[in-house]
Amino acid sequence: MTDNGLTVLGIETSCDETGIGVVSGTSLLSNVLASQVDQHARFGGVVPEVAARAHVEAIRHLTHRALAQAGVHQTDLDGVAATRGPGLVGALVVGYAFAKSLAWALGKPFVGINHLEGHLLAPLLSNPGFEPPAVVLLASGGHSAVVHMKAWGDYETLGSTIDDAAGEALDKTARFLGLGYPGGPAIDREAETGSPDAVAFPRALRDRPYDFSFSGLKTSLLTYVRSHRDAGTLPSIPDVAASLQEAIVDVLVEKTFNAVEATGATVVGGGGGVMANRRLRQRLEEESASRGVSLFIPERELCTDNGAMIAVAGAHRLAQGETTSLGSDVSVSLNLAT
Ligand code: KG4
Ligand code: ZN
Repeated sequence: MTDNGLTVLGIETSCDETGIGVVSGTSLLSNVLASQVDQHARFGGVVPEVAARAHVEAIRHLTHRALAQAGVHQTDLDGVAATRGPGLVGALVVGYAFAKSLAWALGKPFVGINHLEGHLLAPLLSNPGFEPPAVVLLASGGHSAVVHMKAWGDYETLGSTIDDAAGEALDKTARFLGLGYPGGPAIDREAETGSPDAVAFPRALRDRPYDFSFSGLKTSLLTYVRSHRDAGTLPSIPDVAASLQEAIVDVLVEKTFNAVEATGATVVGGGGGVMANRRLRQRLEEESASRGVSLFIPERELCTDNGAMIAVAGAHRLAQGETTSLGSDVSVSLNLAT
């Protein structure tokens, strides 16, 4: 993408991370995060009311910090962007209302961003050479999809999960294994010393080229662990984690490259928290290299929710002359086609 040079503040509050970032075009100037993981961990998942309150407490201070780290004064911003949806309504409202007020007070343009577009465009922060047409794998706690990015802003979801998202499956199984919340990073860590071939977990929906199903995998793990625990034949937790991770990674990679073949794309992108997974990154790199396609995935900390990805998507949309009315509201079930 040609660098539009716009200096934009991005605010992300769709779930349990208050993320604020500042970019200049596709250059990352700052990216700060207030994670609420500790506040939700004892409940084993995100509690919406707790999330909204924590965003309120963090947002002002964090915005100052993001601007200070970027070395940008708020009056020098070219615009303000915030996540409009999808996400938890109470959480979204905090960031969206704050961003609109800031834009209004500063007299700067405002743009509302689809959270999923933020993940899709996050590879730009690590490599501005990322360009459509591309196939992008979106894998997070709330979504798993294979997206054909035909042009900037023109996205076709080729397939998605018919039940749990990949991250959700990792979070639920990790919880069952006693590995805590969030589960993805814990499984990633445990899997490091385990064998991916220890347990043959199922790979679902092989007959559908782009769709995923992960709920059967979760049930299969529960059944396997219970029966083998009772019989005293349970492999080590690293072995179970590595096998589970491999089952998820296998289908994510397979369906991404099904789309690469069908579309003829020579560019592959990735985004969403699960893209921080080291095994997934490795497998995508190997597969891309062997097929001669270019792979663009963000740095690991830019895969999980953050403000910089909203800022970069905001800069892009503002550069196209697009703004969003200050009278607009959040949209909890926004999809990529809207
Ligand atoms: O994109 P994200 O921060 O939030 C959503 O939009 O959902 O993704 C969070 C998800 C969680 O399910 C978390 O367990 C998973 O990403 N995740 C990982 C890793 N880091 C975060 N999954 C696998 N391996 C990781 N290293
Ligand atoms: Zn996300």
